[in-house]
Amino acid sequence: MSRLCAALSDLHALSGAFFCVRQLNAQYVFRGTMRKKITIPDILKMKLNGQRIAVLTSYDFPFTRLIDGGGVDIILVGDSAGVVVAGHDTTLPVTMDEMLYHLRAVKRAEPKALVVADMPFMSYQTGIDEACRNCGRMVKEGGAEAVKVEGGSNMAHVIRAVSSIDIPVMAHIGLTPQSVHRMGGYRVQGRNDQAERIKDDAFAVQHAGAFAVVLEGIPAALAAEISAELTIPTIGIGAGPACDGQVLVIHDILGLCEKYSPKFVKRYADLGPTISDAVSRYVAEVKSGDFPTEEHSFS
Ligand code: KIV
Repeated sequence: MSRLCAALSDLHALSGAFFCVRQLNAQYVFRGTMRKKITIPDILKMKLNGQRIAVLTSYDFPFTRLIDGGGVDIILVGDSAGVVVAGHDTTLPVTMDEMLYHLRAVKRAEPKALVVADMPFMSYQTGIDEACRNCGRMVKEGGAEAVKVEGGSNMAHVIRAVSSIDIPVMAHIGLTPQSVHRMGGYRVQGRNDQAERIKDDAFAVQHAGAFAVVLEGIPAALAAEISAELTIPTIGIGAGPACDGQVLVIHDILGLCEKYSPKFVKRYADLGPTISDAVSRYVAEVKSGDFPTEEHSFS
């Protein structure tokens, strides 16, 4: 091999991660790049046309390539990252800096799906100035195309203020994970005499300017009633089939989160054993000396 070829080969090897990224780009762009970028008006039109909206969470570059290639309409950079990525028991410890880190990694994949950034606990509850500033950081520093805040009537003032500076807001009512201590755990909300309060929340967030609302952990019949009455799309999670769209956490549908398995999750793949098996085989081959071979070595 000429010295130039050897140098190029070494350069190739040294930039393995870069090539891996390029391969990912080439392999998983099927539905991702063929479609046009999805915008807020597209999402609103989907409700008008009776088209269901598919939403998944994502927190990093490689998953976003795959998820966007699968054709989702919205990618939510959820604060569930605190649980499924960082290993916390709740979403409460998640910070603005952590959310910005995840958001930027997602945006680097240039998804066609609308990208919504979840606002972490205490980034928007303390007043509209701080809420606007932090939601603005998600757009300006992270590239978010919309933000999500938890809360109903109690957060209407925040939704109104943030929407008024042209940052689209997705609301989130019912079982709101940031309210875990008030709720006394992750419990279904809106049963019996609580139903009216949830309906009031739904109308309050629509009236305040939210472009969509997540309905989490509420009875299917109540979600159906709300979805029929609101003009903005409802995105359900544990809220039955009548919502205008559905959202799930990517780690849950791939079998990557053993800690919790809520009733509303459907597992579309079981990647845990596949990953464990790959790791065990790698370890065994390193220990036995079967890896690396000549094929993986430089002359
Ligand atoms: O943080 C999150 O992932 C969420 C969704 C599951 C709705 O809020």
